[in-house]
Amino acid sequence: MEISQYLSSEPVLSLAERLVEIAPGQITRVAPTVTGTEAVEGSVKLAREVTGRPIILGFLGQYHGESTYLTAAASTDLPSNTRGFAQYVPGVVLVPYPQSFRAPFHRGPGPYDDTLYLEYIREWVLRYQVEPDQVAGVLIEPVAGEAGILSPSQAFWDGLTAMCQEYDWKLILDEVQTGLGRCGTVFAAERWGLEPDLLLVGKGVTGGGQAVAGVLGTEEMMAGSAAHLGGTYAWEPAACAGALAGLDLLADGSVLSNVMALESIAREELGPLVGEVGQVGDVRWVGAWACLEFVTVADATEPAPEFQHAVHLAAMRRGVFAISEESKPLYRMQPALTMEPELFRWSCRQVADAIREVAEDMTTSHGSGQSHSVDQRRAPRIG
Ligand SMILES: Cc1ncc(COP(=O)(O)O)c(C=O)c1O
Repeated sequence: MEISQYLSSEPVLSLAERLVEIAPGQITRVAPTVTGTEAVEGSVKLAREVTGRPIILGFLGQYHGESTYLTAAASTDLPSNTRGFAQYVPGVVLVPYPQSFRAPFHRGPGPYDDTLYLEYIREWVLRYQVEPDQVAGVLIEPVAGEAGILSPSQAFWDGLTAMCQEYDWKLILDEVQTGLGRCGTVFAAERWGLEPDLLLVGKGVTGGGQAVAGVLGTEEMMAGSAAHLGGTYAWEPAACAGALAGLDLLADGSVLSNVMALESIAREELGPLVGEVGQVGDVRWVGAWACLEFVTVADATEPAPEFQHAVHLAAMRRGVFAISEESKPLYRMQPALTMEPELFRWSCRQVADAIREVAEDMTTSHGSGQSHSVDQRRAPRIG
């Protein structure tokens, strides 16, 4: 076990051992951090240290935190948020994260195929931008959370891991959001049989308590490392005791089956909205996570931010609070992993009714079915 604190304690050691026990693949080591951001930054240090290579391959639309270095460069924050620092970060090459709804890559009339994203890396990035032996590692969220619950296919993961092997790129999975049950398995990596070299945890590992995050890694990545991770407040014993209590809750499997029940409910209740309401462009779900994208009636992929805002308010009036940011065409539902399935079903139905209400309002107030404006009396803007 590798703990960066000078003075260790029982909860710290137990937490490190428990995380190694439940981690996928060949993970044997842990380095504690306070935040997910620090875990991301630490993983980049380790990948560069072990490989002696400078470049990190990341994916546009991911979120890795708020530091001014790598996480800012690869964050979903809009350029207006990162202006003045992200654009000057060297050592990072970004490629699009696979997604079917607004896919930048699509070939021919056949079905959507996200291995084209790998082809783009091979045929374009490696040919024109960076040589494979300059890449230290691939930093990727197994499901892109902030980008709207995007979930690549098994074929994509198989292809990406094959490239990692071919070029000796280290696979760094950012499981700060997906880890510890959100996707219905302890780590999302398990859904696709991924064996990361480094795996980053945060958020869920705290069981909702005090800050705990960390880097988990293989012997190769961490046994001989001289890199310093952690910090003064990393893994306070009380925080570790809270995290252990959270892991106890995950251990018997009932939380994970609850999450899978929530996933089925999202599919049943929200999935059919795509065909039913013209302004629902796409619905996606993985575990206890769902995302809706609203579009204009005139164009099936043009974002409809005012529609989204009106749905958000209408759903809140009905008692459901989801995540809706003005700058992103994404409406995300993120229930507690332990939410009663029937309560989640009720919540989905409230959201569905809110969507129908807003769609109908629009048709009534404009007669045209266009979605770029809503009745402001029913949907006052706030902020
Ligand atoms: C995937 C992912 N990585 C990293 C972070 C950063 O974690 P923190 O906010 O603890 O610094 C987040 C936070 O939302 C995240 O979602």
